[in-house]
Amino acid sequence: MRTQIGIVGAGPAGLLLSHLLALRGIESVVVELRSRAYCEARQRAGVVEDDSVRLLRAAGLAGRLDREGLEHGGIYLQFAGERHHIDFRDLTGGRTVTVYAQTEIVKDLIAQRIAAGAALYFEVTDTEVDRLESDQPVLRYTDADGTRREVVCDAIAGCDGFHGICRPAIPAGLTTVRERDYPYAWLGILADVPPSTDELIYSHHRDGFALHSMRGPALSRLYLQVDTDEAVENWPDDRIWVELQHRFELPGSGWELKQGPVLDKGITPMRSFVSAPMRYGRLFLAGDAAHIVPPTGAKGLNLAMADVAVLAPALDRLLHGDEGPAAAYSATCLERVWRSTHFSWWMTTMLHRTPGADEMATELQLAQLRYVVSSRAAATSLAENYTGYPRLAAGL
Ligand code: FAD
Ligand code: PHB
Repeated sequence: MRTQIGIVGAGPAGLLLSHLLALRGIESVVVELRSRAYCEARQRAGVVEDDSVRLLRAAGLAGRLDREGLEHGGIYLQFAGERHHIDFRDLTGGRTVTVYAQTEIVKDLIAQRIAAGAALYFEVTDTEVDRLESDQPVLRYTDADGTRREVVCDAIAGCDGFHGICRPAIPAGLTTVRERDYPYAWLGILADVPPSTDELIYSHHRDGFALHSMRGPALSRLYLQVDTDEAVENWPDDRIWVELQHRFELPGSGWELKQGPVLDKGITPMRSFVSAPMRYGRLFLAGDAAHIVPPTGAKGLNLAMADVAVLAPALDRLLHGDEGPAAAYSATCLERVWRSTHFSWWMTTMLHRTPGADEMATELQLAQLRYVVSSRAAATSLAENYTGYPRLAAGL
């Protein structure tokens, strides 16, 4: 088989790239390890920056997002028994974020790609990328029927997430990895109950961080900081609700956390990871394949989309013999990646309880939180980063 761009992975990065390329008249083959049902059910991120929304709109992908997404003009920061609103609209000149689940973006993208007749293959195994130094790299996989396939490409996009095969295909010694594991994890639940808040609540608590997010007018998404070695089995629903009630409690305010049936439950480790450069020969990495952030800054999904917004035009130029944008791809993306990596680290370390931390460390966290909610300059920095920085170039 022959295609222009081989794409490994049908997450947000791979699917959006395939669509952005199609808009430029470039054909691609997308191969995905998992089933369509699995990709469409996996619970992940939920916050979309305004420029990511604009990108989806410009690409004709925002029909359902515009109908069902919840536009949020801020977040709440809670600590020491107080809840403070950070008003993004006021602080950033009108910018907002939209709460619309990654799962829904993936469903919309898969539906669009299939309707367009795209080559999108689920449940492939033994994916390999080869001849990456040549201008005819090769993608190999075994399809769902067990037939071994080989696709000759002009370039390959490694959009196969953190555990994929593309990043390890770059010869050892040619990449620099920077990483940090955090000494806590998130237990996330999806609950069949209307959200108890109009905007997300990030709560710093002596007993650990908690986040109240949502998936729609009738669905809540909540997270609890837990130990890294925690097993989901140790967290029956009752225990989760007791702990959530405790960490969101606001005595005397009349505010209440509504409870409901738990529909989904999972534990996510927390890690910062950046592998550079994001290119080797004709292999280009995008999204989690190249970098991971802890979820506290809500950046993972947005970074994946920003990468492919840079990659699609760069590949277009490359196919027309212009190496320039492809040569600049890694450096261009890494600037945003490092900004988001710093912001996510900052939010994470400000809001979580660090096991073994002393009173000094706790007071420093509280001093930082008090500064953010009392200084317009500090709050503006949070708002600017949360809504997306640097701004993504308008258009496709
Ligand atoms: P992915 O979505 O990981 O997609 C990669 C795809 O490649 C997958 O479908 C995978 O099955 C496929 N693949 C892997 N190996 C192969 C192979 N060998 N051959 C073919 N296909 C392959 N971010 C937030 O901002 N907030 C959150 O709450 C949040 N929660 C998360 C929870 C979990 C459990 C995880 C793993 C991530 C979470 N993230 C969160 C991060 C965010 O979801 C990711 O940044 C985002 O999914 C990145 O998109 P991607 O397309 O780069 O990678
Ligand atoms: C989510 O809704 O899943 C979510 C929201 C904000 C975050 C992380 C996750 O910072």
